[in-house]
Amino acid sequence: MHDAKWKSALRRKLLKWFDENQRDLPWRKNKTPYRVWVSEIMLQQTQVATVVDYYKRFIKTFPTVKKLAAAEEAEVLKLWEGLGYYRRAKQLHAAAKAVVEQHGGKFPTDFESVLALPGIGRYTAGAILSISLDQQQPILEGNTIRLFARLMEIKSDPRSTSNQKSLWEFSESILPRKRCGDFNQSLMELGSEVCHPKRPQCLICPIRDLCPTSVKGLQESIPVATKKIEYEELNEAIVVLQRGNKFLVRQCGPDERWAGLWDFPRYEIGSAAEKPIGENTKKPAKARLTRVNANGNPARAIETAVNQDTGLVVSLDKSDKQLKHAVTKYKIKLDCYIAGEVSGRLKKSAGKLKWMTIDQVHDSPMSVTGRKIASWIGKRINGNPTRL
Ligand code: ADE
Repeated sequence: MHDAKWKSALRRKLLKWFDENQRDLPWRKNKTPYRVWVSEIMLQQTQVATVVDYYKRFIKTFPTVKKLAAAEEAEVLKLWEGLGYYRRAKQLHAAAKAVVEQHGGKFPTDFESVLALPGIGRYTAGAILSISLDQQQPILEGNTIRLFARLMEIKSDPRSTSNQKSLWEFSESILPRKRCGDFNQSLMELGSEVCHPKRPQCLICPIRDLCPTSVKGLQESIPVATKKIEYEELNEAIVVLQRGNKFLVRQCGPDERWAGLWDFPRYEIGSAAEKPIGENTKKPAKARLTRVNANGNPARAIETAVNQDTGLVVSLDKSDKQLKHAVTKYKIKLDCYIAGEVSGRLKKSAGKLKWMTIDQVHDSPMSVTGRKIASWIGKRINGNPTRL
């Protein structure tokens, strides 16, 4: 089925379609390995529309890998704030330092050296080298898995080990001799803009004649549905403690959800009867928040936990604000408590706790909900500068 004639028709039609239809995106101009790398890391798990402004700001601040390597981690995280998956930013920063230390500040151009950098896997290494330098490197990511599954008429789980092997081989076998970067991008672009998971736009697809799935009308059943993400519901509480014009914030530890970012003291709320989250999964990926057993009275349980963690004595009334948000596989209901009286001294052993003015909080890299709470506090302070 995929003979030389089929492949050459595929290359010709896709490149022509890409020339006429590609989106105007900032990382498609001046395609240096550094710029393509930054875009590829940002595009992991994140929509193109969200990435555009982050990418422009990031490249403006760090136009070269050397500038990025010389930055403070907090500055990198601040530019990443809101994009999520902050490990990406830390690894990008670590990799920039490795490029300076091991490659004299010049982004490497051989596959093995690129692959050895932190945060770069087989897909990203192939994408960087094909897009920026037209090297003949295959790619395989979400959009291309779906597209290839349809072109290859794969009727079993495309993420299985044996199908992944066939998909990578297919990706390699269809590469043109020239314009590999445009070709790889055309595959991803077609996957994202035409070959949708549901109701793919076969009528406007430039390669529908070459696609057995479209010819046979099987596009709703290929690729086969894989398991949906099962969200876990979580109740959390944030506590706002004020002393003079300062607020207590805490830097998240290296294995926590928002490693390196700042947050208000935060607790997971549960009742003694239920299992803590993550215990029904094999291994929690992140260190857990301190869990308080509320049993109908979360305010008392949080007061005790705050005292144990910080040494401070606080009184809480009821939740002052509730936010809802989703992080990876969790749906989180977040209650925000503004503490009344705060007495006692901060424990010496209280980890990375710090009193900051609201301006200092604003200037620090924050968790998304932490930032929302900070803005809310900022507005309330403007009404009453001495106490929330
Ligand atoms: N997704 C990830 N990288 C991409 C690219 N370069 N073009 C289109 N979609 C992408």
